[in-house]
Amino acid sequence: MSDYPAWGHYIHGGYTQPDPAQALQEYDPRDGSATWRVARGTAAEVDQAVRSAHGAQAAWADTKPLDRGRLLTRIANRLREEAERFAAIEQRETGKPLPQARGDLELAAQYFEFYGGLAPGLEGEAIDIGPERLCYTRREPYGVVGIILPWNAPLNQAARAAAPALAAGNAVVAKPSEFTSVSLLCFAELAVQCGLPAGLLNVVTGTGPEAGAALVRHPDVAKIAFTGSVRAGREIGLMAAERTLPVTLELGGKSPNIVFADANLDDAVAGSLRAFTVNAGQACIAGTRCLVERSLYDDFVARLAAAAGDLRVGAADGDHVGPIITEAQYQRVQDYFDIARQEGARALTGGTVEGGQGSGWFVPPTIFTDAPATARIAREEIFGPVCVVLPFDGEAEAIRMANDTDYGLAAGLWTRDVGRAHRVAARLQAGQVYINEYPVGGVETPFGGFKQSGLGREKGREALHHYSQLKTVILKL
Ligand code: NAI
Repeated sequence: MSDYPAWGHYIHGGYTQPDPAQALQEYDPRDGSATWRVARGTAAEVDQAVRSAHGAQAAWADTKPLDRGRLLTRIANRLREEAERFAAIEQRETGKPLPQARGDLELAAQYFEFYGGLAPGLEGEAIDIGPERLCYTRREPYGVVGIILPWNAPLNQAARAAAPALAAGNAVVAKPSEFTSVSLLCFAELAVQCGLPAGLLNVVTGTGPEAGAALVRHPDVAKIAFTGSVRAGREIGLMAAERTLPVTLELGGKSPNIVFADANLDDAVAGSLRAFTVNAGQACIAGTRCLVERSLYDDFVARLAAAAGDLRVGAADGDHVGPIITEAQYQRVQDYFDIARQEGARALTGGTVEGGQGSGWFVPPTIFTDAPATARIAREEIFGPVCVVLPFDGEAEAIRMANDTDYGLAAGLWTRDVGRAHRVAARLQAGQVYINEYPVGGVETPFGGFKQSGLGREKGREALHHYSQLKTVILKL
């Protein structure tokens, strides 16, 4: 990797020549310093990328699934070999401590490994409609899939969508976040070096309203997979509706984390802390509404605050809570601190960035109590290491409070009562439910939102069904 004056797009196996005057600036969240610049893509570059992808896709769809899978596995292995280089890039772009960046990279490799293995397993079925006909189904690729990505785990989320899309025989044009584009550019280059035919994975950088919207609107894009905010997801959904374009939307959350009085307290405290501080709270599945049974409430809150005080804020290897991605997001989290005060909430820990880490965008773990369940800080996604703790009385109220949200991405619960665990899990309106740990799950576990948190599913075998379309064939015998 070399520090080019500005990175071009990666289209058809090579970098385009960027216009430095138009390039977008990235920053290192650890100290706010300017780092790389990336090309600001327009509809013209998106068109170039989609044409290239369209041209490459038919031959890829005709490639034996076993061979497609083998290539994806090779990409996974190569990414592992180069994990340190990619982790360093992602650390520079996201600011997160290196061990966390390494963890994200390992997951990215696992997506290619997992879908490489599944590629030959994309099966249809024979359906008996009587002796006079043969009826069977086939799973076929869409063609060109457009992938629009956020910044919180750049390559991990790119791989989550690109690996199943490629496994199913599609070509991909990806638009990374304008704040974290370089790791995906380098990854596309690596994939081509592994033998992926040029054009199957093109990357156009730029902003959402320009490059992102152009991708959604391009007539040769046959499916969009979007990960990001509810706001942008809705805009994309509206654009997609104009031409009945299939979409997968992975959006935000305000996930409940329910602690019953019979829980293992040590585990519940450690897990509930992790639930809202993972990736400095910049995780769509973050458990940021902690609901605690009243008899345990005072004890639990005191222990959670003490445990939060033990977390180290910073970007060194042993630190737990890295920086917030952008200055604007850093400011937004602080705005919520003001809102919390106006709403009468009490910060047990954190609630201010004073005494923070120099010029970096660091926020300490923050726990609010005494807020009503209707407070904005208890209902809106903040996307920082911020949690609201609310008491409840009994199982029915826990379920009612947990579901009292427009979101439905994830939910957690802590109890030693197995019957209750499954009873409550069945009633929680969320795409993933974690019992006695938070968060958990890997590339194998289907993932996606109920309610406003999204549409469709990523991960697991299930994702292959969202990157392929079903055809029924009927033959008269
Ligand atoms: P964002 O929605 O602002 O941006 C995400 C991507 O969409 C970026 O690449 C951006 O350039 C693009 N974009 C924005 N507006 C667009 C438009 N009108 N048309 C086309 N593309 C557009 O989200 P951000 O701030 O990058 O990420 C944070 C949000 O993402 C949070 O709300 C979080 O909950 C959600 N998220 C969801 C995840 C999930 O798997 N459900 C995972 C990670 C984040």
